Amino acid sequence: MGIYLMKCKWPWLLNILFIFILTNRIRAISPDGEALLSFRIAIVSSDGVLSQWRPEDPDPCKWKGVACDSKTKRVTTLSLTNHKLSGPVSPDLGKLEHLRLLILHNNNFYGSIPSELGNCTELQGIYLQGNYLSGLIPSELGNLSSLQNLDISSNSLSGSIPPSIGKLDKLITCNVSNNFLVGPIPSQGVFGNYTASSFVGNRGLCGKQINITCKDDHGGATTNSKSPTSERSEQLDWEARLNIIMGAAKGLAYLHHDCSPRIIHRDIKSSNILLDSNLEARVSDFGLAKLLEDEESHITTIVAGTFGYLAPEYMVSGRATEKTDVYSFGVLVLEILSGKRPTDASFIEKGLNIVGWLNFLMIENRQREIVDPNCVGMQAESLNALLSVAIQCVSSSPEDRPTMHRVVQVLESEVMTPCPSDFYDSNSD
Ligand SMILES: *[C@@H]1O[C@H](CO)[C@@H](O)[C@H](O)[C@H]1NC(C)=O
Ligand SMILES: *[C@@H]1O[C@H](CO)[C@@H](O)[C@H](O)[C@H]1NC(C)=O
Ligand SMILES: *[C@@H]1O[C@H](CO)[C@@H](O)[C@H](O)[C@H]1NC(C)=O
Ligand SMILES: *[C@@H]1O[C@H](CO)[C@@H](O)[C@H](O)[C@H]1NC(C)=O
Ligand SMILES: *[C@@H]1O[C@H](CO)[C@@H](O)[C@H](O)[C@H]1NC(C)=O
Repeated sequence: MGIYLMKCKWPWLLNILFIFILTNRIRAISPDGEALLSFRIAIVSSDGVLSQWRPEDPDPCKWKGVACDSKTKRVTTLSLTNHKLSGPVSPDLGKLEHLRLLILHNNNFYGSIPSELGNCTELQGIYLQGNYLSGLIPSELGNLSSLQNLDISSNSLSGSIPPSIGKLDKLITCNVSNNFLVGPIPSQGVFGNYTASSFVGNRGLCGKQINITCKDDHGGATTNSKSPTSERSEQLDWEARLNIIMGAAKGLAYLHHDCSPRIIHRDIKSSNILLDSNLEARVSDFGLAKLLEDEESHITTIVAGTFGYLAPEYMVSGRATEKTDVYSFGVLVLEILSGKRPTDASFIEKGLNIVGWLNFLMIENRQREIVDPNCVGMQAESLNALLSVAIQCVSSSPEDRPTMHRVVQVLESEVMTPCPSDFYDSNSD
């Protein structure tokens, strides 16, 4: 209607519009370039590597990290590793029809692996290891019949391994280690060819490859039955909050004390997971396995971005230990109790973070006020015990913090089933 009127009154304007559209079209970047620009827009921070991806270019072939077919100018490779790229992986990558290699490992990508990647049917290699990707492994990856290498290890992926991936008969290497995967490892297809080293670090997996027989109910090894994903923190009642805390404590204790020794040597990175903008994802996936990994490249991001979770000595040395992990756990407990982020604006205004606020309240013996007033069903005894644990965990000197084993013991004996005692005041092993 509007266009029709315009056409009657100002035909010349329509001509100009048309020419404008035409010239713009000539100058516009190729569709592959557009897809890559969407990929870039989704990224919230990086080390600046994408700054010379210029939308004015006719095609993205000269962009850093991009390679094209020389004749067709279609993108065949996207390779950006160790660039501190943080943000979701854009589903628009699925539009890169001729993509053969997707190499994004060792960044800070979070969110899920887009199922749209299943549209890139020429993909031969997917390298996404060492990020914070969560959610399920999309079964659509089973459509990538040319795929030879798949590495999605060291993320926070959950759910089971889609059997469709077993159909990829060209798949030479496959690594899903260090995630939160559960259930049986498919025995059909190529999965018969992989050894335990493709599956390590997933407590809930079973299968002959790892010599663990599958029981009827899979996933008994995951942290918690009650998933908090559907609720926001404000709506969680006391019991739900305790369950989350307990699950986190057990997960951390497991990583610190019950895992193979090498995990103890890794750095702790709760912060990235916990600071995701999406509260549910942070709490449900927890990324506890991700907490422990040693990569120097992440240190500065953490120190800059997630102030509230970091132990004071970590801020100084940049070195994480189990005790810096315990500190982060303490902050997490305060966060869950208060329903506030560690660096909530209300603390920052006062020049504090959540720990500073707790210390401030403690001076006036008002520490119980840290608890979210919307939290229903709170029990006084368990609150006191829990606060006491949290206070010890966020102690400024690492020696005063309890081990996670100790924390679990106290939580089990005093918080979950409260009874008055000053058991843990005297010792912190
Ligand atoms: C790409 O994949 C998604 C989901 O996997 C699907 O919904 C969509 O239609 C696909 N797009 C194309 C162009 O094939
Ligand atoms: C891709 O995989 C999904 C799920 O595995 C399936 O439903 C879909 O039909 C597949 N698409 C194509 C184009 O093969
Ligand atoms: C296992 O690997 C061998 C050679 O490496 C190959 O010939 C065979 O087809 C593979 N088996 C499956 C089920 O992919
Ligand atoms: C899989 O990745 C883990 C690190 O996350 C590594 O320790 C393991 O050796 C890898 N396995 C294979 C088969 O590459
Ligand atoms: C599984 O058991 C077989 C024989 O019982 C052994 O050779 C193999 O090394 C074991 N694998 C693992 C991952 O423990």
